[in-house]
Amino acid sequence: MVISSIDAVGGKAIEVAETLGLFSSLQQSGGDIEELALRLQVSVRGLRPLLFLLSSIGVVSQRGDQFLLAPETSEFLKNQWPARRDELPQPADWEQLEGAVRTGRCVRPAIEGESDGGSFFTGIVDTLFRLHSGMARHLHHELPYSIRKVLDLGAGSAVWSLGLLTQREEVMAVAVDHSKVLQEVTSRFVHEKGLAERFELRAGSYHDVELEAEGYDLVYLGHVIHSEGWDATRSLLLRCLKTLQPGGILAIAEWVGSEPRSQDYHANLFDLNMLMFTEAGLVFSAAEMERLVTEAGFLNPRWITGPGRHPVLLAEKAG
Ligand SMILES: C[S@@+](CC[C@H](N)C(=O)[O-])C[C@H]1O[C@@H](n2cnc3c(N)ncnc32)[C@H](O)[C@@H]1O
Repeated sequence: MVISSIDAVGGKAIEVAETLGLFSSLQQSGGDIEELALRLQVSVRGLRPLLFLLSSIGVVSQRGDQFLLAPETSEFLKNQWPARRDELPQPADWEQLEGAVRTGRCVRPAIEGESDGGSFFTGIVDTLFRLHSGMARHLHHELPYSIRKVLDLGAGSAVWSLGLLTQREEVMAVAVDHSKVLQEVTSRFVHEKGLAERFELRAGSYHDVELEAEGYDLVYLGHVIHSEGWDATRSLLLRCLKTLQPGGILAIAEWVGSEPRSQDYHANLFDLNMLMFTEAGLVFSAAEMERLVTEAGFLNPRWITGPGRHPVLLAEKAG
């Protein structure tokens, strides 16, 4: 792979990799993420998205689970990088990337679990509606007509449940989110669509808000698990399993990391953002998400492609 154009964050990633001694270590020998993290004395959580981003730029290459120095990198770092680096702006908010990679901890108050009830998210969910509504509507064709009650966790604009309710008048929904998001965003969207009477807006954290046992035919997790990470996603999936009827369906809409990871720079950039700005978040690959849902007890995971950047994962609770 040829070293591609480098933006400000990419430049910062190279700078941090140099400071941590990643390139000189890879010059000696390649390794998997755990080995390299041990060698450099940095966190696995931090090194993972850094390596993925560097592989997208082309300075690191990936073979299976092994990361190697790309053939052009030594020459590039010696002859071209010093001048390129001086031309790049320092990206705002990324000064602490090195610390985040070393420790695996986010560098500011985490955006998930905000105590003020969702200020960060009220600003972005409108944009997310435009991005996701085509795919949300498309799912209607893939979902059984027996669905009557759906749960939309981390609903935001309720884009995922609205995608179904606007096309099926027999379906009712419960949307869970921080109270500020429900009041300022969700409620506006469901009113605009004339569907307020078919929605219950339930304020609280999806980690502990009360959910009825076997109360739903379908649960959406729409762009939620990337800010949660492994452990919180596992417990969220168990809550979803419990609240679904036997035979009920889980729908996960998410960023999906490419295989190999080098192929999707933007997913890797988002992954690095999750390192910087959440306590445990990350972009999962398709295989990792399938493993998470099957380990939680869901059956028959399958990917639905449609008018969205990434496919949506559907899986079922045993009937
Ligand atoms: C990235 S947005 C996705 C919104 C919408 N599902 C979509 O796909 O466009 C994440 C949403 O989850 C909500 N959220 C984050 N943490 C939450 C929590 N612990 N409990 C309830 N909602 C939460 C945010 O307020 C936000 O609306």
